[in-house]
Amino acid sequence: MTDAAPDRIPALVHALPKAELHLHIEGTLEPEMAFAMARRNGVKLRFESISDLRAAYNFDDLQSFLDLYYETASVLRTERDFHDLAAAYLDRMAAENVRHVEIFFDPQTHTSRGIAYDTVLDGLCAALDEAEADHGLTSRLILCFLRDRSAEEAMAVLEAALPRLDRIAGVGLDSAESGNPPSKFEAVFARARAEGLTTVAHAGEEGPPAYIREALDLLHVTRIDHGVRCEGDPDLVARLRIEQMPLTVCPLSNIRLRVFDSLADHNIKRLLDAGLLVTVNSDDPAYFGGYLSTNFIETQRALALDEADIVTLAKNGFTASLLPAEKKAAHLAAVDAAYREFQESHGRPSTA
Ligand code: HPA
Ligand code: ZN
Repeated sequence: MTDAAPDRIPALVHALPKAELHLHIEGTLEPEMAFAMARRNGVKLRFESISDLRAAYNFDDLQSFLDLYYETASVLRTERDFHDLAAAYLDRMAAENVRHVEIFFDPQTHTSRGIAYDTVLDGLCAALDEAEADHGLTSRLILCFLRDRSAEEAMAVLEAALPRLDRIAGVGLDSAESGNPPSKFEAVFARARAEGLTTVAHAGEEGPPAYIREALDLLHVTRIDHGVRCEGDPDLVARLRIEQMPLTVCPLSNIRLRVFDSLADHNIKRLLDAGLLVTVNSDDPAYFGGYLSTNFIETQRALALDEADIVTLAKNGFTASLLPAEKKAAHLAAVDAAYREFQESHGRPSTA
């Protein structure tokens, strides 16, 4: 593919219907929007300007990112703020030809500042409903517990969410991974499953392969978020392949948070070639240098993914989604059709 037209891969990535399964809505807060909300809510940020804030988006590890991420989230106060945040992301995804998104939100980040859970949920749901009506973009919400806070607090969050569980597809686990193993939340996740919720968990981003095993065996997750550190345990890699356990991989995030030194060192291609069900996602795109399509394009470039890899990754996003089987099948057929059409209009790849 070395002599492919320079815009061929971006055009292909755009042409393929896509799903995003690992996206923190608070991580879509662009500096411009943060300043606009700070102004209208009378919140003072410690940064003088949008460019000062953007310049601070330079992280040593997960914790250094989380510190800024929680600080900036303080501008989100009203239902309108949560609506506008999600609407901007969803409009962008519709423009990128993304057809389905599964969105994390962190109630504790907001309720601990005195913002009501219903304010957060109402704002987000209004935007999700509009995106489906306006763009046919479907979505699910996944409520995440902050793993560096107590299991008791997580249980209280779950209980507070019970009256409106119709809008929640599942629960997840995020924030500082090291020292906060999945086992800490075994009882909370058991309760969530008993309430009919799907469970997912961040594991193996900075934490060890043992955390991935705990997420599988103790939390009974249907997906692992990140999971890239599985390679430290070859038996676990084999298990992930055999079970076709989805990994929601976030390439640009992993570089910005220094999980890998560079995209060229990332293991997503190796995991894909080993037969694991890996997907591409953006995590916190306002902070990590790109939304979903940019993650696809930059990963392709750095790892010389071929077009079949890109099509597989796009299809894996739907396969690993929480959509019902008939919706998955329709999306998978749409990806194949889009690739056939792309080849008709752009020709076959030069090395195929
Ligand atoms: N890891 C853990 N917690 C998070 C992340 C992440 O990448 N993004 C937002 N919260
Ligand atoms: Zn994440």
